[in-house]
Amino acid sequence: MKPDPSPRPKILILVSGQGSNLQALIEASRERDYPADIVAVGSNQAKAPALAKAAHANIPTFVIEHGHYGSREEFDGALMQEIRRHNPDLIVLAGFMRILTEGFVRAFRGQLVNIHPSLLPKYTGLNTHQRALNAGDKVHGVSVHFVTEELDGGPIIAQAQIAVIPDDSAETLAQKVQAQEHVLYPIVVRWCCEGRVQLGPDQVLFDGQALPR
Ligand code: GRF
Repeated sequence: MKPDPSPRPKILILVSGQGSNLQALIEASRERDYPADIVAVGSNQAKAPALAKAAHANIPTFVIEHGHYGSREEFDGALMQEIRRHNPDLIVLAGFMRILTEGFVRAFRGQLVNIHPSLLPKYTGLNTHQRALNAGDKVHGVSVHFVTEELDGGPIIAQAQIAVIPDDSAETLAQKVQAQEHVLYPIVVRWCCEGRVQLGPDQVLFDGQALPR
């Protein structure tokens, strides 16, 4: 058999929770012109509902439970080994609730993207919706960024905004932000797989042009 001359890019998705972003990516990847395939979904949580969503879509899953490892380095080493078995072009963090070691992040530089529920650089870390409310922000949103050694601090690829209205609570903001996440993430993942978005030495390149940091 002849080797495939232009193999489709392979995406591997890491999850810890509900998997609504995973579901949005699964649905997008089923569109006829989507340029990539989801080859595996991995989790650090055996009970993550996201795993059932992957299994339902016939996508291979794996679990590496962080509690079984003595250190972050050992956990990340096991995760890296499993990821390499699938040889992905892009690793998509979709609600993956682990801080990755520098070694892991460097090993996959330019191939690792994350979605974060705030307009970075505002509100890295947790409780982003409540923090936006407490600050009286009129605009809130979501960011997709390359993962680098700095937590939630890698170069931003794209953001989507929502308006904050006086009646909003952390819950309503979470719903509005998630609705935007489900649109934005499949688009950005598509751009990465098409080679339109790349991580340059210090910033994102979009169609070869450096985006402002
Ligand atoms: C999303 O809000 C994402 O921004 C954050 O974790 C959440 C994951 O939600 N990183 P889900 O598991 O995709 O439903």
